[in-house]
Amino acid sequence: MSILHLKKDNPIVDESHKFSVFSRKYLGNKTNFIPLINRVIKENDLRCNSILEACMGTGVLSFYFASRGKKVIANDLLPLNYVLGKAFLCSMGNVKTWKMIKFLERINMKYGYRGVITKKFGNSFIPHSESERVDAIVDLLIKSNLTEKEKYYLTASLILAVEKIANIDSDYLLKEIMEPKMRKLRLKPINYVKSKKTIVYNKNAVVVAKKHNVDLMIVDPPFSQSDYSDYMHYPEFIVERVFANLSKPQKSDFCNPKKAISAFVKLINASKSKAIIFFYSNKGLVKKKTLVEEIKKKYKNVKVYEVVRLMGLHLIRNEPKTDFAILGFNR
Ligand SMILES: C[S@@+](CC[C@H](N)C(=O)[O-])C[C@H]1O[C@@H](n2cnc3c(N)ncnc32)[C@H](O)[C@@H]1O
Repeated sequence: MSILHLKKDNPIVDESHKFSVFSRKYLGNKTNFIPLINRVIKENDLRCNSILEACMGTGVLSFYFASRGKKVIANDLLPLNYVLGKAFLCSMGNVKTWKMIKFLERINMKYGYRGVITKKFGNSFIPHSESERVDAIVDLLIKSNLTEKEKYYLTASLILAVEKIANIDSDYLLKEIMEPKMRKLRLKPINYVKSKKTIVYNKNAVVVAKKHNVDLMIVDPPFSQSDYSDYMHYPEFIVERVFANLSKPQKSDFCNPKKAISAFVKLINASKSKAIIFFYSNKGLVKKKTLVEEIKKKYKNVKVYEVVRLMGLHLIRNEPKTDFAILGFNR
């Protein structure tokens, strides 16, 4: 068994000009794991030209690999993550930056009114006046003659702007203490990867794993019964309004105590990747021993890495956390 030392929580990201995917408030966001993943890849001499991130969440790992020229397949069950993935991970092709900036300027001047979002969420998450502005902005996005890519771009900017002023923790749970800062919604351009090789899906991880023969599949699933679809209501509702064609958020089998084991077995069996890195928690619904056994059935070489946190909020917060990573690879 090897040990991976996790030095700190997420880095401070300069967002003065553009929103970055690395500063998302998202439980289980793996920005701080990037050096550890690189260490695992290097010390096991893994070939990593193509990567499938089966449960991408924010997509920070996909962003990292795509910006280094790798072929990336990124997937998540939540429509919210799909929309942000389409915005941050795919080349914006013919989206004209000047057009987006002009549109964002127009949006930032927009006055609000009481619409469905304000009625549904009122003063929770963000101040009432700003929710009214979200209503007006969402209606503008729906009514304007925008391409699908432009809508991904602008919706991503809106969701990050909401996140910045929201009275929430990393998981959209309301904080007890209101922060005294001025909380005014301000949209900015987004910092996206200029890669044409990335594919983004909004499917069950098993379906995508079956389809793609890649060098490395990264699996970072939820560990507990709390399903991500249960607490991302505000941004999910924005996505639902702007993209009526997307499916509604679904419950994950990984969060269902009766289905979690078989769901993981299906996913591991479905894998066509040459290597897998599977992140999980000692407090998860499935035991480490079970996951190791299943990965051993599929891969000749299996190593377990313990993740030890040296500092950071996870040490003082009672939050679920990643405790280990299982590496499986064939040579
Ligand atoms: C721990 S988070 C991943 C965090 C991600 N590694 C990051 O850096 O942001 C787990 C993710 O798995 C997704 N998920 C849950 N069940 C899934 C399934 N069956 N297929 C695909 N994604 C799933 C959730 O929506 C959630 O975004």
